[in-house]
Amino acid sequence: MSGRFITLEGGEGVGKSTQLRCLAEALRSRGHDVIETREPGGSAGAEQIRAMLMTGDAGRWNAGAEALLFAAARADHVAKTIRPALERGAWVLCDRFIDSSRAYQGGADGISDADLLRLHAVGSHGLLPHRTLLLTLPSGEAARRAEERDRGGADRFGARDAAYHAKVAAAFRAIAEAEPERFRLIDASGTPDAVTERLLEALDGL
Ligand code: TYD
Repeated sequence: MSGRFITLEGGEGVGKSTQLRCLAEALRSRGHDVIETREPGGSAGAEQIRAMLMTGDAGRWNAGAEALLFAAARADHVAKTIRPALERGAWVLCDRFIDSSRAYQGGADGISDADLLRLHAVGSHGLLPHRTLLLTLPSGEAARRAEERDRGGADRFGARDAAYHAKVAAAFRAIAEAEPERFRLIDASGTPDAVTERLLEALDGL
């Protein structure tokens, strides 16, 4: 596979989606073939699973069922969208991937990291990104941004409290610290342009 696989990770409200678009534009202007995708979703089958995950009441799925659904969506996304793009040499930018499962279903919901990696091995042959950019903001600032964005009505996951989001943030940091070659921590504060600049610098060596 000759392409480059880059994921953006972080809690709600850190600006991943906006930055993914900006980063894609910056890479295209340098002549790269870039595809933008997101999880859960990114292929027809995975988008159907996304609808099951994102709608309904908060208790619709238990933690195990949720972990399996995210892994199933990812398997389809990898097979139908990500691998074919990497094989043709494209840069794949993905909003969330396996590390979101490790932080949310793992760090916050209590599924073991070993189990989540096993599901990833079964579904997606353990595919890992070449680089993962973890966007970080002080928790108050992230909550304020997420609240502003969700004013029209949050999804199944929007109702989680500050303690839950703190567990997610701590898990992301621990995962990043354990894999310093793959991860870069990005300060997501300041203007969007400044953040995009930091993201581009963090693709050093690719
Ligand atoms: P979405 O509105 O797409 O994302 P964002 O918060 O990035 O704007 O919501 C996706 C939700 O799904 C978000 O709360 C994180 C959660 N999630 C998991 O719990 N596990 C996963 O593996 C993934 C990909 C997402």
